[in-house]
Amino acid sequence: MDNKSHLYTIGYVIISNDCFIANSTGVMPSGLKNDLDWQYFQSELNNSDLILIGRKSYVNFHKSKRNRLIPTSKIKDIEVEKSDLCFFNPRKILIEDAIKIFLPKVEKIAVVGGNKVYELVFNSIGFNEFHLTVANSFYMNEGILFNDNTKSLNDIYHLMDKNELKLSEKRNLDKNVTLYIFKKL
Ligand SMILES: NC(=O)c1ccc[n+]([C@@H]2O[C@H](COP(=O)([O-])OP(=O)(O)OC[C@H]3O[C@@H](n4cnc5c(N)ncnc54)[C@H](OP(=O)(O)O)[C@@H]3O)[C@@H](O)[C@H]2O)c1
Repeated sequence: MDNKSHLYTIGYVIISNDCFIANSTGVMPSGLKNDLDWQYFQSELNNSDLILIGRKSYVNFHKSKRNRLIPTSKIKDIEVEKSDLCFFNPRKILIEDAIKIFLPKVEKIAVVGGNKVYELVFNSIGFNEFHLTVANSFYMNEGILFNDNTKSLNDIYHLMDKNELKLSEKRNLDKNVTLYIFKKL
């Protein structure tokens, strides 16, 4: 089965200046919350066909009525639970095949993390775009990194570059946060 070609995948994340997405217990501190980023993120999600989201993030936002696809090791292969909710085991079924079973008409996929979900996509269907928001003056020192191998913004640039994602836009959403949009050329 191969329908990779008509999927368009966009990653979204907000990180601290030292590249963390949450503290070590998986909670996003207030320094990683920004109203303008949240509005931007929500409007982007409203324009997506499907959200690929980690299980813990899903539990926090389970009331959302969006189409959600969730990777988990806890099931055999794929379980479509409702018309807008599906779980799949990435060790047993490819993302593109799970999408074909769940919602075959899907094109635009928003990948909203956490770090294992980003890694899964980097290592499989890849990203067409990545929208990275940096909380410029907020440092965490420890917690869950955006990616286990990226400990600085420079490392993230290299990761994007390695995945053919080039910086196409840099915008200050306000004085505290900057949005970097990387695109596959
Ligand atoms: N700053 C941000 O923008 C941002 C964005 C998203 C999340 N976060 C934070 O990051 C924390 C962790 O997020 P999360 O748990 O939703 O996502 P995650 O750390 O990426 O975890 C992915 C989940 O997917 C499942 N999984 C199983 N096999 C997998 C595979 N091969 N590849 C990838 N995932 C697999 C695991 O579920 P099973 O345990 O069921 O196997 C795991 O809980 C959250 O608590 C949240 O606060 C921050």
